[in-house]
Amino acid sequence: MGKTNKTVGRNASEQQLIDSISKDNPHIFAFWETLTDKDKDALIADLQSVNWEQLCAYYNAASSQSNAQEAVTFSTAEYYPTGNLSQSRTMRQLGAKALSEGKVAFLTVAGGQASRLDYEYPKGCFPISPITKKPLFQIFAEKIRYYSEYYSKQMQWYIMTSDTNYDDTVNFFSKHDYWGLDSRNVTFFRQGMLPAVTSDGKLILSEPHRLFRNPDGHGGILTALMKTGLLDKIKDSGIQYLSYFQVDNPLINMADTTFIGYHILNNMSVTTKVIEKLYPEERLGVIGKKNGINGIIEYSDLPMEMAQERLPNGKLRYGMGSTGVHIFSTDFLTHITQRLPVHCAKKKVISVQQAADGSPVREEVEAIKFETFVFDTIGLADTDKSGFFETNRADEFYPLKNKTGLDSIATCTTGQINAYIRWLIEAGIIDNTEVHKINKAEISPLFAPDRQIFIRQAALERDYIHQCVRTGSAINSEINISKESFRSLGVLFGADHG
Ligand code: UTP
Repeated sequence: MGKTNKTVGRNASEQQLIDSISKDNPHIFAFWETLTDKDKDALIADLQSVNWEQLCAYYNAASSQSNAQEAVTFSTAEYYPTGNLSQSRTMRQLGAKALSEGKVAFLTVAGGQASRLDYEYPKGCFPISPITKKPLFQIFAEKIRYYSEYYSKQMQWYIMTSDTNYDDTVNFFSKHDYWGLDSRNVTFFRQGMLPAVTSDGKLILSEPHRLFRNPDGHGGILTALMKTGLLDKIKDSGIQYLSYFQVDNPLINMADTTFIGYHILNNMSVTTKVIEKLYPEERLGVIGKKNGINGIIEYSDLPMEMAQERLPNGKLRYGMGSTGVHIFSTDFLTHITQRLPVHCAKKKVISVQQAADGSPVREEVEAIKFETFVFDTIGLADTDKSGFFETNRADEFYPLKNKTGLDSIATCTTGQINAYIRWLIEAGIIDNTEVHKINKAEISPLFAPDRQIFIRQAALERDYIHQCVRTGSAINSEINISKESFRSLGVLFGADHG
């Protein structure tokens, strides 16, 4: 970082920019003299695109966070429990109506770096279905294909990527012909990239002509949707609700009519799907009020004694964890004007530095990375307009985060197998005594994309399922239900979308 000579720009405006940045960050121009004109253009454009006011605010927030913890009071938040069936029929009907009227679209965040999975491609390309090894993107695409046929509506799917994995993601879809979806109904867009800084607030070079940047977190979806004009387009096309999910969960129930109906019935701005925590230390953000306002409390922010606190019925007081699944009203998103709070993480990154002889060398440096989180939008809604809705983890939530251990390839695979076996039991196809004979099970989303549809479909396709499940009178150790069996809502349930 030892550059002291004045950097000479190629014109007056470039010089002005160089001078202003050189005051605190002269090392950014360490390789200036050796750069080609094209690379100089790239570095200047990179620097011009930095939102300095935002970066300073983020750095100041990071400094104050490390100096003194902001005093936040936590209290519990209400949620709609799974056992509450009082209005479930009305909710299902409202949800199904919204889906069949094209008022719901799907929104996936797929811009993460998947560093814990240690996978070189975008996480959505990871093969994860138990038998046929379908990648996550294929599983979601097939679910959307099914729902589009079922509701007789071409459903839209919006996918956020980062700059880094945009091309790989789009090419993967093209290579697989969008798994039968019409490519016009799939929209990819890029999230922003934020410069990281050193602990003393200096910019970092990742290349002699490029700043180090990282994706701006899943909360970047807000800025990206607004900046690209996509949010207005979505709203103008009559879409009122966005069913938001992360790229890592193959069991996602993305068109859950009761969940969508709950959101509509209660005129919510944002509704979050929650599950019961397994144990106090589980690394899951929990629902709660922060200074009286609904939100998600990160597991690292909840003091252990609060995490362990139990209600008289034995359940954890802060026991409902977020699945990262939300329904957003597009109207609410278009009216958000506040910036989401910043979250900082100290991470080692590779930086290009200048060796004594002036040549570039790559070194690991400690950086502060800035991100925003989508669940902080909950705090921007009026508290009576943000809801929490409980679901059953075993049917819907086995995220793929790590290579091994918790939330890993193994647990995600077993989670799917167990869910499918349970669906078979619920549909009366097998009974509990037969479960031990089954090693693997998979139900294609093209046969049934969720539990509720599977149970109905099973009644219509008993012979086919029986064939998949048994060879003669014996249970197959591998059960693969893969037939395509689209049936429209009208044919199955008549007018009430029951
Ligand atoms: P995670 O928090 O699991 O992070 O993201 P990750 O980047 O995928 O994985 P690690 O931490 O590097 O191992 C949750 C969801 O948010 C998306 C991810 O793609 C995933 O669907 N995400 C995360 C983004 O879209 N952009 C980001 O900047 C961060």
